Amino acid sequence: MTNARSIAPFETSARYTRVAIALHWLIGLALLAQIAFGFLLDDLAPRGTPARAATINLHKSVGIVLFVLIAARLLWRLRHAPPAWPASMPAWQHGAARFGHRTLYACMVVAPLAGYVASNFSKHGVRFFGARLAPWGPDLPRVYDALNGLHVATAWLLTALIAGHIAVSLKHALIDRDEVFSRMWPGASP
Ligand code: HEM
Ligand code: HEM
Repeated sequence: MTNARSIAPFETSARYTRVAIALHWLIGLALLAQIAFGFLLDDLAPRGTPARAATINLHKSVGIVLFVLIAARLLWRLRHAPPAWPASMPAWQHGAARFGHRTLYACMVVAPLAGYVASNFSKHGVRFFGARLAPWGPDLPRVYDALNGLHVATAWLLTALIAGHIAVSLKHALIDRDEVFSRMWPGASP
């Protein structure tokens, strides 16, 4: 059956595969922790304190690892179609979910990428778990500020989208009581 929702052409089952579920929860939970870490940076290590550099470099290092995982997930997803929508879901919800998921993926890519590129237009560069990666760009504070602004804006957008995403998935589980939640839940039957 052709599945208009997917980039890969054929659906294979009514559930997400084990790989899709594992990647969703691994990356989803790690992203929530990384977002919280980002927003707490100034409380954990205020600017000008000795702990600042190590703390921000830990955020950068974890963010780079997350970016690699996200890129792998996206490449995998482009080759594997998700299950077809439940018959009970109206067409406008298919469109809304497709748009929401695509925007989530876009923010998951742009947020860490903008942070990484920004860091390379600063003399500080990145210390990747202690190993100094010399910046490949010049020290340009205005470029750094613009890219850092993009990093912060996409992190906020990601936070808002995730809040909406969690709310909608709970609505499916608790109000609609369809299989949308259980097909992404490890081990649950549709
Ligand atoms: C922590 C609470 C979360 C819950 C309860 C949850 C629930 C779900 C459910 C039920 C689906 C399947 C929707 C469907 O059947 O089409 C899904 C898909 C998805 N979730 Fe989550 N999610 C959570 C966190 C996250 C986070 C933090 C992200 C990160 C941005 C995320 C990104 C996605 C994406 C991109 C999809 C689409 C999968 C695809 O078709 O490729 N989720 N989520
Ligand atoms: C998906 C991964 C990432 C997420 C979700 C994320 C999220 C965040 C958040 C929420 C903030 C706080 C924003 C604010 O209120 O000012 C932040 C700050 C920051 N992030 Fe990330 N980040 C990620 C990856 C990265 C990477 C890969 C780098 C660089 C290599 C980076 C560098 C920074 C820097 C330098 C700040 C401090 C900005 C400032 O206070 O001026 N982040 N991040």
